[in-house]
Amino acid sequence: MVHTLHPLPYTYTALEPHMDARTVEIHHTAHHNTYVTKLNAALADFPDRANLDLTALQHVLAGTSPAVINNAGGHYNHTLFWQNMGPVGSSNPAPFGELAAKIDEKFGSFETFKQQFTAAAVNRFASGWAFLTVKQDGTLEVHNTPGHENPLMDGIGTVHGVPILTCDVWEHAYYLKYQQRRPEFVENWWRIVNWDAVVSNYDNYAKNGQAVPFA
Ligand SMILES: [Fe+2]
Repeated sequence: MVHTLHPLPYTYTALEPHMDARTVEIHHTAHHNTYVTKLNAALADFPDRANLDLTALQHVLAGTSPAVINNAGGHYNHTLFWQNMGPVGSSNPAPFGELAAKIDEKFGSFETFKQQFTAAAVNRFASGWAFLTVKQDGTLEVHNTPGHENPLMDGIGTVHGVPILTCDVWEHAYYLKYQQRRPEFVENWWRIVNWDAVVSNYDNYAKNGQAVPFA
């Protein structure tokens, strides 16, 4: 299959003022788009991976090439990132249902979870991602990854499972508005998390035992 850059589920201005329109547009049309283009080029050397959807592909990246791993991860992580954000007020303001209970069970409270996730995002050295992941034993984990690694990548990285929420902490995600102030970016990012989407990602895991399939 040919991987494609899908439109965002909202306009480029929709996340203002917490994520400015120019940043979102460049991030999507330049950065994310480049990962998609380079992924298609890099996959030409691995025809046995050519017919997998984007989510399935994450599981079989070990043993390919840095170009495939970096660009497949980049495409997947950005797709999840766009999906798990939305305009202020467009979703429930906090987790609910079984996910809310799981967060309380693991972290003690929603606030403590947010503090740990914020620390994972802020303390990631250089470029990378923060994740809330359902591990293979069904428990939740907050962690971060370097580059474009994600927990779906079997044999790569240290935490494995299904990511249900992610925050991009590459500088290109926030530099125009926040410059070097990553903590301020992450603090404001919480206002545009789409908890309906995150709960949906969790419920899909609970029902099917795997990540939502992204094309
Ligand atoms: Fe990014």
